[in-house]
Amino acid sequence: MRITVHRKAHFNAAHRLFRKDWDDERNLEVFGKCSNPNYHGHNYELIVSVTGEPNPETGFVMDLKILKELIYHEVEESFDHKNLNIEVAEFQDLNPTAENIAVVIWKKLRPEILEDHDLEVTLYETPRNFVSYKGE
Ligand code: NI
Repeated sequence: MRITVHRKAHFNAAHRLFRKDWDDERNLEVFGKCSNPNYHGHNYELIVSVTGEPNPETGFVMDLKILKELIYHEVEESFDHKNLNIEVAEFQDLNPTAENIAVVIWKKLRPEILEDHDLEVTLYETPRNFVSYKGE
């Protein structure tokens, strides 16, 4: 019996979507408002989902207190109220799209989750636009 537990978290961050090798006009055409050279913010909503067999002693797949702290240390401390392009090392040369942010978060959390558990990261950039990544 495999069950999925979920923990929601939140961070605010600024970004700009652009390619250095494209001019502002082309960046605007492809990335729209998200390519504003002066950056802009999003209220990101994060859902971290861990799937596995519940531990027979505790009945937990994973202690959600531990998951909460893990998300706090690995994600919120590094991303919250930051400019992702400028202040977060992973995005120095990586466009901070919702897709890439979700992959970066997954890679930070994966080593901290039991090996036989599956990890999925869902990231809302707006209430209607969201992406999910499970390491495939
Ligand atoms: Ni944006």
